[in-house]
Amino acid sequence: MIIAQISDTHIALDTPDADRRLRDLALTIADINALDPVPDAIVHTGDIVHNGRPEEYALAAAALANSRLPVYVVAGNKDNRANLRAAFWSDGYLSGDHDFIDYAIDDHPVRLVVLDTVSAGSNKGDFCPERISRLIDLIDAETKKPIAVFTHHPPFEVMVGPERLHFETPQKMARLRRVLQHSGRVVAVFSGHVHRAAAGHVGTIRATVVPCTATTRRYGEYPAEMQTRPVYQVHRFDPAWGFATETRIVEEVPPAPPLCATQSVVTI
Ligand SMILES: [Fe+2]
Repeated sequence: MIIAQISDTHIALDTPDADRRLRDLALTIADINALDPVPDAIVHTGDIVHNGRPEEYALAAAALANSRLPVYVVAGNKDNRANLRAAFWSDGYLSGDHDFIDYAIDDHPVRLVVLDTVSAGSNKGDFCPERISRLIDLIDAETKKPIAVFTHHPPFEVMVGPERLHFETPQKMARLRRVLQHSGRVVAVFSGHVHRAAAGHVGTIRATVVPCTATTRRYGEYPAEMQTRPVYQVHRFDPAWGFATETRIVEEVPPAPPLCATQSVVTI
């Protein structure tokens, strides 16, 4: 089971780097398409667009539609739930029973559980009582498979960057930490939002943040030759060892589809 994670594409129409953001997304999808073996799915962990506008989602959805594999999306604080749902509704995996963008994908050896941590009042994460019961229901709907949880806001203390807590209160993050641990079957938590790589734990669960796909919005130190090259992560699951993560640095020229040779993989 292989999952490619991208995040924080911030597609916009009205910024000087709008074309660059679209280019970064297109190059990233082309790189994922050329992976050998091809991943089972792409998960976009939110801030798909920058202003929540339908026109931005149309551009993002068109770029993501070039993927050879299924794409699942997570809502970020810059997203608009209604416009996000409208843009990706035809893909068939989003539920319409509630405002929240949360769901489970059961098609793979690892269940993918997507959580909505968007707050109505801030750009930080929220985890209200209603979402507690929804997450418990999603986790408990199946009791055999391991689970990977995807959130926009990381539910652990991020030790890089100016902010360590990305939820509105430590209590909300602690509440989420308890729910994520209750079944013992959540093996990894994958997040975005911070725009730089980070790793930590949610209790005993491995948790990571993927860097921002948009190269103009990325934080952290990158060598000069990487400034315009998008970065994303590939998470490979082994039943004995759990998830291992590789960070891939995208070539600026879209790679040709694989013949028989494998591409070089760069880990940072
Ligand atoms: Fe973001």
